[in-house]
Amino acid sequence: MAFNKKSKIFIAGINGLVGRSLKKCLLKHGYTNICGESSALIDLRKSNDVIKFFNTEKPEIVINAAATVGGILANNKYPYNFCIDNSLIECNIIENCLINDIKKYIFLSSSCVYPKKSNQPIKEEYLLRGKLEPTNEFYAIAKILGVKLCEAARKQFEKNYFSVFPCNLYGPHDNFDLETSHVIPALIRKIHEAKKYCVKEVELWGSGEPLREFLYVDDLSEGIVTLMQQNKNETSYNIGSKREIKIYELAQIIKNIIDYQGKLKWNKKMPDGTPRKKLETSKINKIGWKEKHSLEDGLIKTYKWYLKNLKSLKEKKIN
Ligand SMILES: NC(=O)c1ccc[n+]([C@@H]2O[C@H](COP(=O)([O-])OP(=O)(O)OC[C@H]3O[C@@H](n4cnc5c(N)ncnc54)[C@H](OP(=O)(O)O)[C@@H]3O)[C@@H](O)[C@H]2O)c1
Repeated sequence: MAFNKKSKIFIAGINGLVGRSLKKCLLKHGYTNICGESSALIDLRKSNDVIKFFNTEKPEIVINAAATVGGILANNKYPYNFCIDNSLIECNIIENCLINDIKKYIFLSSSCVYPKKSNQPIKEEYLLRGKLEPTNEFYAIAKILGVKLCEAARKQFEKNYFSVFPCNLYGPHDNFDLETSHVIPALIRKIHEAKKYCVKEVELWGSGEPLREFLYVDDLSEGIVTLMQQNKNETSYNIGSKREIKIYELAQIIKNIIDYQGKLKWNKKMPDGTPRKKLETSKINKIGWKEKHSLEDGLIKTYKWYLKNLKSLKEKKIN
């Protein structure tokens, strides 16, 4: 079905890191009819809330960026929440997409669904070819369910439902709560506070050796909007960065941006997670998407946002 700039687009998770950026990006591209609610108003784990929302809003396109998300610490502490919350959200949303004959559904999966020992760079077809990284196994299982539900709906009902697999993301509106945050906001906060309180040394987790890629969230949004506008017969797309970097080099760049003069000390007793995770992105590059922000530019923008919003940052808890 053809859709146009007035088609109603439901962004699940509209207040999150990805959701806010997606809304901005859609508006920039002329899509003005966007809906979505906070989890306080619509709990997507509850099927009645989701049924009611679809009946009231009648969206035509659905992008699912709602999830219980967090770093190694939160994944380790709340494995059940990571598995059940995400499974419920995914099931409720796709089921209502089918009931309401939604023609296009885009599910946000993650690079952490790929096996720990994947060949690198990781192609989309490597999914389920090996054991998962144990530090995020329960989250990954739920995210794989979301991917497979899209595939099943394509196969059984010929729906244009597909998944995107972003690498690690960062940017304005990220979560800076140290219990639930990812690596970049955690590094920014720890190093910023060390500078502020004149602490001579900051302890960081792990060896600093793992290789990672990071994408500025607005670049991801451009990728999702590009995919939303085309009709290729594909079930999944990696979206990642050109650059791979060791965590200790990343920490050094952030230290320089913050201008912290103290030392960074690595606590090797803490887990590193998977040693390397590099996505192969030729599929999405072929349809015209490429990363625009360098890591340094993205980090500077993110740190500026953090400084500006320091007083209003919310604690983000798993419940
Ligand atoms: N961040 C990354 O590095 C990364 C990397 C790869 C993939 N992803 C994927 O990208 C998607 C978005 O992640 P993000 O980083 O934007 O996460 P985020 O900032 O934590 O945002 C998640 C959003 O989901 C909403 N949400 C969570 N539980 C909900 C519920 N029960 N009912 C309704 N809404 C609920 C939250 O709503 P409220 O704010 O209203 O509570 C929030 O807006 C997720 O699917 C994630 O797996 C993220």
